[in-house]
Amino acid sequence: MVSFASLLLYTLLSHFALTMAAKAPAARCATPPFDENSADIRILHAVGPCSPLRPPSTSWGDTMSDLMTRDESRLASLAASLAKSHRSSVPIASGRQMLQIPNYVVRASLGSPGQPMVVALDTSNDAAWFPCTACVGCPSAAVPFDSSRSSTFRPLPCGSPQCAQVPNPSCSPGAASCSFNLSYGGSSFQAGLAQDSLALGSDVLSSYTFGCLQKMTGSSIPPQGLLGLGRGPLSFLSQTKDRYASTFSYCLPSFRSSNFSGSLRLGPVGQPKRIKTTPLLTSTRRSSFYYVNMTGIRVGRRVLDIPPSALAFDPATGAGTIVDAGTMFTRLVAPAYAALRDEFRRQVKAAAGPVTSLGGFDTCYSGSFVPPAVTLVFTGMNLKLPPDNLLIRSTAGSMACLAMAAAPDNVNSVVNVIANVQQQNYRVLFDVANARIGFSHETCTATA
Ligand SMILES: *[C@@H]1O[C@H](CO)[C@@H](O)[C@H](O)[C@H]1NC(C)=O
Ligand SMILES: *[C@@H]1O[C@H](CO)[C@@H](O)[C@H](O)[C@H]1NC(C)=O
Ligand SMILES: *[C@@H]1O[C@H](CO)[C@@H](O)[C@H](O)[C@H]1NC(C)=O
Repeated sequence: MVSFASLLLYTLLSHFALTMAAKAPAARCATPPFDENSADIRILHAVGPCSPLRPPSTSWGDTMSDLMTRDESRLASLAASLAKSHRSSVPIASGRQMLQIPNYVVRASLGSPGQPMVVALDTSNDAAWFPCTACVGCPSAAVPFDSSRSSTFRPLPCGSPQCAQVPNPSCSPGAASCSFNLSYGGSSFQAGLAQDSLALGSDVLSSYTFGCLQKMTGSSIPPQGLLGLGRGPLSFLSQTKDRYASTFSYCLPSFRSSNFSGSLRLGPVGQPKRIKTTPLLTSTRRSSFYYVNMTGIRVGRRVLDIPPSALAFDPATGAGTIVDAGTMFTRLVAPAYAALRDEFRRQVKAAAGPVTSLGGFDTCYSGSFVPPAVTLVFTGMNLKLPPDNLLIRSTAGSMACLAMAAAPDNVNSVVNVIANVQQQNYRVLFDVANARIGFSHETCTATA
């Protein structure tokens, strides 16, 4: 049975689709992957109107509800990775097979001469990997990387230092080169460790270490590969430390926008000078995640009464708050979300009509209203969310929902995730060298 809510959701989202189709002339999508006058690399939303990865036969409504369910799966796998070495914990199975690619992609090219790829960005993972020719079980829609056509491709031997850094390396007796197994979302795969030239924007990174996918099961991997922007060994930051000094920033476009300047900026050059920052924290449990110290939340002027344990950072368990580009809607642990939602509802005037729920959102209104300001308070920095980062609304403005949710009700979900809708139209600076994360207003999305 189709519930009323999902029907309503479908109608709402179809409306987005129609509006988008009318306002997204294909010509706009033909812009080059980077601006000629800057080193910025254009970021596309994976299912946005200009993305080559957008599923052609899927309606916008279906894509959107996939994205919401995908968030749940992503949270489950983020939480599961925290739980890995917790003996007492219960493993979390997502039980769903769906579009699990991270939300944002950039164009890259691999090998010499370069073979074009559209790779997903993931700030909570380290490794880079690409589907290679002869891969068994890789997505058939994508053109795989053909290492035989690259003059600079080099498999890495078992004794190489990089082989010691990959998770679950396997060097069967007699094997000439190193391979490793990894799981991602609901998929697991086997990859050969290799090096080749990776071009991003106008920069060419020679001898970049990545996994060449050989075998995979499951269907939840980005079709043209992944670039891990996490902080661990073999991550992009570690491999390019000399060139980019462990620094990058992004401005993320809205999935609704076809006209934007969302970009990835690598290295310290050109980063905002006047920027509010908060210290970056490191968890031994999960070294790839970008942890920050969120100390409170305000709705309007009111400071929410949140139990300290819901926000406290614990390096040993991995509890706390992370900034993640791969999750779409911010998730707060249950008591923090309940406090936020209740106060938000209290301050929204009755003119907005009764509270309804829609899809995964529990605070929606069909009347028009001005939302109270929500401010996330971090050590040394406040992040005041403008209405566009707070609400998801139909283009006609007839329905709007608070674009956040409680973290899934699992034993290990003790992580608050500051997700990408809440980061829109900020340049988010990841300055690992100076152990800080910064936010600076920047219009990278024009939602017309
Ligand atoms: C790695 O994965 C492959 C294929 O999925 C499997 O055959 C192999 O046994 C795995 N190796 C290890 C060390 O887990
Ligand atoms: C986070 O902020 C709180 C409140 O200022 C402070 O007590 C705590 O020590 C901070 N935690 C870390 C890890 O910096
Ligand atoms: C799209 O971007 C261009 C150039 O950045 C700008 O001139 C134009 O007004 C934008 N259009 C819309 C609908 O926002």
